[in-house]
Amino acid sequence: MDALDALHLRSSVPKLSDPLPSQVMLDNIYKAAFRAADHAVLRPWRFLIVKGDARRRLGELFVQAGLDGDAELDDSAVEKLRSKPLRAPLVLVCVSSYKPHPKVPEIEQDLSAGAAIQNMLVAAFAQGVGAMWRTGSLAYNPVVKSGLGLSSQEKIIGFLYIGTINGGTKQLCDPDLQSCFQDW
Ligand SMILES: Cc1cc2nc3c(=O)[nH]c(=O)nc-3n(C[C@H](O)[C@H](O)[C@H](O)COP(=O)(O)O)c2cc1C
Repeated sequence: MDALDALHLRSSVPKLSDPLPSQVMLDNIYKAAFRAADHAVLRPWRFLIVKGDARRRLGELFVQAGLDGDAELDDSAVEKLRSKPLRAPLVLVCVSSYKPHPKVPEIEQDLSAGAAIQNMLVAAFAQGVGAMWRTGSLAYNPVVKSGLGLSSQEKIIGFLYIGTINGGTKQLCDPDLQSCFQDW
């Protein structure tokens, strides 16, 4: 796909299913992260690949986090947490990994990590692979963070769900350029 088409037409895919995209496609997605704008080339990110049975372990961690916040959670709420990672064959836990630097404050490193995720979304779309960036309260939950082995300097900035597109893709409207771009 033409690069501008990918940038102009990308959309998120909430409904994802098996099969897992090929390793070549996944590596193309991962490589795109490295081309995010990155002040001082710190690579202030890392990504945990959660697929296969690891998704069930992540689901159990989500349950643990949910029960830690509310021991009275009912069965359906527990089941909802447990099944979250099963919404796609692959979940990338996207971690902004702050590296102290005299010229690069934490916000710039978070932005760079976010840009890496956006690059991966576009790389997925360009190959016909479905993807969606999600967070929710679990991304900011201390039980989830420690269960995934994050350091105190790190934060989860997204769960990137990746898989085969299941269903149609949405109709896009033409962007209203003037609403966001004005002469100064
Ligand atoms: C940091 C971040 C967190 C997000 N978290 C969620 C989420 O938890 N649930 C959700 O439905 N959409 C979430 N979104 C939005 C979707 O990823 C998506 O961008 C949105 O539905 C618009 O669709 P589009 O990407 O096709 O324009 C998040 C987006 C960002 C940038």
